[in-house]
Amino acid sequence: MKKVSISGKGGTGKSMLTTLLSGILTEKGYTVLTVDSDDSNPGLYRMLGFDEAPRPLMDLFGGENQILTEIKYRQQKDDKQPTAEWLNKDKFEMSDIPEDYMIHRDGQKLLSVGKISAAFEGCACPMAEVLKIFLDKLELKEKEIMIVDMEAGVEHFGRGVDKSIDTVLILVEPTVESISLASKVYYLSRGSKIDNIWAVLNKIPTGAIADKVKGELEKRKIKVAGTVYYDPQIAEYALEGKPLTQSQAKEEVRQIVEVLLKEA
Ligand SMILES: Nc1ncnc2c1ncn2[C@@H]1O[C@H](COP(=O)(O)OP(=O)(O)OP(=O)(O)O)[C@@H](O)[C@H]1O
Ligand SMILES: [Mg+2]
Repeated sequence: MKKVSISGKGGTGKSMLTTLLSGILTEKGYTVLTVDSDDSNPGLYRMLGFDEAPRPLMDLFGGENQILTEIKYRQQKDDKQPTAEWLNKDKFEMSDIPEDYMIHRDGQKLLSVGKISAAFEGCACPMAEVLKIFLDKLELKEKEIMIVDMEAGVEHFGRGVDKSIDTVLILVEPTVESISLASKVYYLSRGSKIDNIWAVLNKIPTGAIADKVKGELEKRKIKVAGTVYYDPQIAEYALEGKPLTQSQAKEEVRQIVEVLLKEA
């Protein structure tokens, strides 16, 4: 478990799980880099307890126009080299990333790919491209883990963003749509040659419903790492925009971490 992606349907709890995982793994002595790859929702930095978001990685890679030019060259099979320094690097380590792009607090590190901020800004392809390059070229050392809070849905698989991911956690809430999307994420993860794929049940109201959801996932051959029950404390933190600190959900994620560290 080195490069972990948190996937699933919109609103199922990807950012919640990313935040709690990052906190727990940091407490366990890992150096955790959280990557905010969601080009819309601005709030992950707040959930993690930061006062402001980091400078977008997009700037470090030369900005949107530079990336679009690079994509065009590639489509034309033109071997002209991109000019932005970071696009030319073969690989890099966490320690190479400048401080304003990778902020840290209580041992947790956060990096954000970029956000759509203006009308008519164009598609999110450059952001997906930067994310793909970054995930691929970042080399992790012993006890370093990267957790990517993916954007909702499956478009990132289509763009090949997940090609260097080794572990996929799929958030599943108790709805037929969420289970059906989980199945698709599982299939696409396998298609991306990822072996370590786990479902995490979230917002579960009762043990009986947890059993039903697990049954549905087992039918689809998807392993379950654990269950996070509906937690009013999490809902309250979300309403107040507070960092996710102590909660029942955090204790449940602690058990999920034990499963993942043993088996993933
Ligand atoms: N176990 C839980 N108990 C109660 N509320 C929860 C739980 N998990 C998540 N939530 C709430 O559900 C909402 C969606 O959670 P979150 O933002 O983590 O989902 P997401 O998958 O990242 O959403 P998006 O697809 O929009 O990025 C938030 O308001 C969050 O506080
Ligand atoms: Mg989110």
